[in-house]
Amino acid sequence: MSHPPQRPHRNFYGRRRGKHLRESQEAYLAEDLAAWSPGPVGWDENPDRRPLDLEALFAGREVWLEVGFGGGEHMVHQAALHPDTGIIGCEPYINGIAMLLGKLRRANPDNVAIHPGDVRDLFDVLPDASIARAFLLYPDPWPKARHHRRRFVTPEHLEPLARVLKPGAIFRVATDIPDYVRQTLQEVPRHGFAWLAEGPSDWRVPWDDWLSTRYEQKALREGRVPHYLTFRRV
Ligand SMILES: C[S@@+](CC[C@H](N)C(=O)[O-])C[C@H]1O[C@@H](n2cnc3c(N)ncnc32)[C@H](O)[C@@H]1O
Repeated sequence: MSHPPQRPHRNFYGRRRGKHLRESQEAYLAEDLAAWSPGPVGWDENPDRRPLDLEALFAGREVWLEVGFGGGEHMVHQAALHPDTGIIGCEPYINGIAMLLGKLRRANPDNVAIHPGDVRDLFDVLPDASIARAFLLYPDPWPKARHHRRRFVTPEHLEPLARVLKPGAIFRVATDIPDYVRQTLQEVPRHGFAWLAEGPSDWRVPWDDWLSTRYEQKALREGRVPHYLTFRRV
């Protein structure tokens, strides 16, 4: 007899809720969120951790993933720029999800899905080698040394990321924190990625199809310097 997988214990250190939501945002969450679901991701609805049917979700289009989309501006921009691609975004912060839902009401793309939670739960149900591009844009910096193991660029996240990315897939990381650059360049190649930089312009100049995010705007206002790191899954 086979047993369903055991729900792992996962600490989550970020914020799930911030300041008060506007009435319109409460309505987006109540009325719209379910329609953007990529399928059964949560443990309650999918205790056996059946893989998502991405073929059906995006009608066979290539699938990209954005981790921690914040207010969703970059995701909506990429979805509009690449209609032949499906993009799954995940974000546990309810205020960010509500912001994205407002943008989706206006743009109404047919190539976006939202997991309103932790990327680790999404990784569980993404098929192996199913994602052609992943974005990690201004991940939580966790500046204190004793908190570095909470960062995304640790084996707990990089192992499942490597599993779900196709060979040759692109992984983009943006950060304004020099020590985050250090840890990313140390850890990501250990998980089967090659850093594609040939010279300083490769990490100083944003990607051609870049749209600056809310967090990047804040970093720039506060005098911090963005770094744009591009990896290929080998
Ligand atoms: C510093 S913010 C950057 C947001 C956005 N990418 C931007 O550039 O404006 C980092 C985001 O990652 C999200 N995050 C943190 N842990 C996460 C996890 N385990 N899964 C998905 N998103 C996560 C946070 O909720 C937060 O919104």
